Amino acid sequence: MQDSELIKKACEARQRAYVPYSHFGVGAALETADGHVFLGCNIENASYTPTICAERTAIFKAVSEGYRQFRRIAIVGGAMEKDALDYCPPCGVCRQVMAEFCDPKTFQVLLARSPQDYRVYTLEELLPLNFGPEDLEA
Ligand code: THU
Repeated sequence: MQDSELIKKACEARQRAYVPYSHFGVGAALETADGHVFLGCNIENASYTPTICAERTAIFKAVSEGYRQFRRIAIVGGAMEKDALDYCPPCGVCRQVMAEFCDPKTFQVLLARSPQDYRVYTLEELLPLNFGPEDLEA
């Protein structure tokens, strides 16, 4: 799948964001190693802390469906009342969840303003020296 297609899917997912408190909608499209795509949006809560980010929604949907190998994720975010999107870097918790399942050197994170305007980072660039599953193997 082309980058632009994955970004469009993240935009579709963002339309389903449930954000009555921040009004900041985020969408994510996660591609598995075998080409499946899982979408996620942020889902807020009146008690605030149960809020989940779009990236983790997508990752947890995929893992709960039996997928654990991922190639890349496209992320879009911005205030719902505005049309313009800006680069929306994943929060630290989402980066840590990515590190549980994704190879830091090869997993790509696409931060997009539009299907044509985006930046690509590896997970390692976003979370250097991560603490991962292999660190528990003494
Ligand atoms: N949010 C995400 O969905 N992903 C991120 O990586 C950054 C933050 C959401 C959480 C909350 O619903 C809103 O954006 C404002 O923080």
